[in-house]
Amino acid sequence: MLNMFSKIVVPYDNSELSKKALDTAITLAKQDNSIKLDVITVVNSNYTAYHYGVYAIDPIRKTQLEEANKMLKDVEQELSELPNQTNTHLIEGSPSASIIDFINETQADLVVMGSRGLSGLKEVFLGSVSHYVVQKSPCPVFIVK
Ligand SMILES: Nc1ncnc2c1ncn2[C@@H]1O[C@H](COP(=O)(O)OP(=O)(O)OP(=O)(O)O)[C@@H](O)[C@H]1O
Ligand SMILES: [Mg+2]
Repeated sequence: MLNMFSKIVVPYDNSELSKKALDTAITLAKQDNSIKLDVITVVNSNYTAYHYGVYAIDPIRKTQLEEANKMLKDVEQELSELPNQTNTHLIEGSPSASIIDFINETQADLVVMGSRGLSGLKEVFLGSVSHYVVQKSPCPVFIVK
């Protein structure tokens, strides 16, 4: 069954469930070293400041990007144990739309993500990002809970 899935995408926000999703994807990738693994994190940064050139040294955006980069370094550390081809990506934009664009552009064939993310609310089963991705993804979505 695993050779049905040769390109796996893990949307990662550093939440416990996204860590669990990453571990699941790593376990899947270990079954076959031709499986490619892409981990993406989307930073919803301040676009207004971003567009205004030299005045754009927006401290919040800078901190967000630095934190995301640090987080992806840790992910890369974890991925380095795999013989598979792996990549991490830092994208700026709306998380839901950027994840779907990435899946379409890279023609991924499986997404592995958490049911919930960083927001603490537990009343609903899916967060807004996982809900959107399940609805719009052209490929199967493996929801880790
Ligand atoms: N900014 C992001 N970049 C990459 N992946 C993300 C991002 N935000 C969420 N995800 C992925 O989506 C999963 C579900 O998170 P989601 O954001 O939907 O839930 P939530 O944070 O609990 O709720 P909400 O954000 O709607 O308040 C996460 O486990 C992670 O896999
Ligand atoms: Mg969230």
